Amino acid sequence: MRLDVITIFPEYVSPLREALLGKALDRGLIQLGVHDLRDYAHDVHRSVDDSPYGGGPGMVMKPQVWGEALDAICPAEPTPRLIVPTPAGRPFTQAMAHAYAREQHLVFACGRYEGIDQRVVDAAARRMPVDEVSIGDYVLIGGEAAVLVMVEAVVRLLPGVLGNQASHEQDSFSDGLLEGPSYTRPEVWQDMPVPDVLRSGNHAAINRWRRDRALERTYHRRPELLAALPAESLDKHDRKL
Ligand code: ADE
Repeated sequence: MRLDVITIFPEYVSPLREALLGKALDRGLIQLGVHDLRDYAHDVHRSVDDSPYGGGPGMVMKPQVWGEALDAICPAEPTPRLIVPTPAGRPFTQAMAHAYAREQHLVFACGRYEGIDQRVVDAAARRMPVDEVSIGDYVLIGGEAAVLVMVEAVVRLLPGVLGNQASHEQDSFSDGLLEGPSYTRPEVWQDMPVPDVLRSGNHAAINRWRRDRALERTYHRRPELLAALPAESLDKHDRKL
């Protein structure tokens, strides 16, 4: 998978080269390009923003600069998917992370200030798939932190990135529920023992116990997720809880 990030703060996304993502780069599982948007601004100040039509606070990023950057970075064939982080976007979900993990090329366009001139998105959408995406109901200063979040969620799903392939099959959300608690040695810590069933070796009982804790946790923390589960995904035992 190839990833390109366009930003006025290239150093902000340098964590993409750390830890597991760095390993994925070193091993050739992903390729990463980070591009300074100002390289596509041609005035002496290399300005990328201007005041909004219609008035109001803040600045809007200029369409010509973004247009040139996207022309240079997005090939005509095969077309990448363009992702524009914005608090006004569709909410990012684990299902979207899985869908993005199947793409060959993702380009992230980080806006700052009050956003990017809408014509940039509209023009790009004439020649490639474009998603305006929010990582949550709060407002960040710019899209960079959102790109770190989305890239991490996507890249960990690529084959070979996580040591243990099974580990994302048990992720929170993979079955529509939050994941329950986990324990490791020692058996007793600060007077608190590990639940007996986890040391029983009875895998059916362990799976049932994990499922029950996941249901319980989801019920208390995210009741709307439980309500959204299709009826057939709950078994007889689940319904008693
Ligand atoms: N840019 C600013 N706030 C954002 C958010 N919540 N999600 C994605 N991009 C953003």
